[in-house]
Amino acid sequence: MKKSIADRIEKLQEKYDAIGQDLETHLDGLLYSKPIRYWDFVQTDALLNLQIQRTEFPDEMVFLMYHQINELLFKMILWEMKQISYNENLTAEFFISRLGRISRYFDALSNSFNVMEEGMDVAQYLKFRDTLTPASGFQSAQYRMIEICATDLINLIDYRFRKTIDRNTPFEHAFEHLYWQAAGKDYKTGKKTYLLKEFETKYKDSLLRLMQEYNEINLYDKYKSLPENVRNDIGLKNAMRHLDYTINISWVMHHYNAACKYLLSEGENTEATGGSDWQKYMLPRYQKRIFFPDLWSKDEIENWGITNLKSYKILE
Ligand code: HEM
Repeated sequence: MKKSIADRIEKLQEKYDAIGQDLETHLDGLLYSKPIRYWDFVQTDALLNLQIQRTEFPDEMVFLMYHQINELLFKMILWEMKQISYNENLTAEFFISRLGRISRYFDALSNSFNVMEEGMDVAQYLKFRDTLTPASGFQSAQYRMIEICATDLINLIDYRFRKTIDRNTPFEHAFEHLYWQAAGKDYKTGKKTYLLKEFETKYKDSLLRLMQEYNEINLYDKYKSLPENVRNDIGLKNAMRHLDYTINISWVMHHYNAACKYLLSEGENTEATGGSDWQKYMLPRYQKRIFFPDLWSKDEIENWGITNLKSYKILE
């Protein structure tokens, strides 16, 4: 027997001894098992059976699958965020490389949003959307999770209530004042809509737990806890700024433009499926959602989503 094989057998023996398992049985298992194939690894059968339309309009498939692609990329983003948050020896190099991955995923989402804006027949959209009421992307829990993992809660609180909330505020109270609560309330009566109530029944508890978990290890906290010389690394600052921009301006504007195309089509002013005052709510200059405020100048913050719609200044 080749020495390299004997060495491996010895290591396997140690591995299975350590957990009280019989090596011979495991080797037999290896002998009889089928070699893995592409579809076993990618789980194509499960993945490609998740596209269930509610109507017969072909473009509903575009809408459905693009949302599913978004959710998969959201999952990839959360995966990378966790690598940063749980890294106890964070270096500028690691931070920049993982922020780069997240930005690439979000850039891909922003740059592909024309799949929505250009890629569906307006007449079909206006029909199949009726079967989706009152569901809305607003109910994407992963999108909310990305925000919670990115920044301190105060930066996600509705501007009108920021002065009344600080680090000692109970999570539940902060939750009730997150910026997106505004879109989940009937903007005439202030009452929570069915869309928000359903969302909270399913996700409120787990979101509260996540708020607690990431309270001191979100991306912004990890950045602020670095030594000054690392915090001042220009590459790191630009990576943070890029991420803030791509999520909170670029994606938001692509999303808003798609919404305008369909909901304002044919001179109509259609209500959003979620029922929000969407034209105001969806604009970055209204929400002023900024994950990393220390990384922007006063002027850039004041003009958020007004002067920097197409790009932002790269620091040198
Ligand atoms: C034609 C395509 C789309 C239209 C017309 C549209 C429209 C809207 C509108 C009007 C809202 C405001 C809340 C409401 O009242 O429903 C909203 C929220 C939202 N949508 Fe979309 N959307 C589209 C595609 C997408 C896609 C592909 C995603 C990806 C998952 C998405 C994710 C979201 C999220 C995360 C929110 C909440 C954003 C926030 O709170 O700022 N949407 N959408």
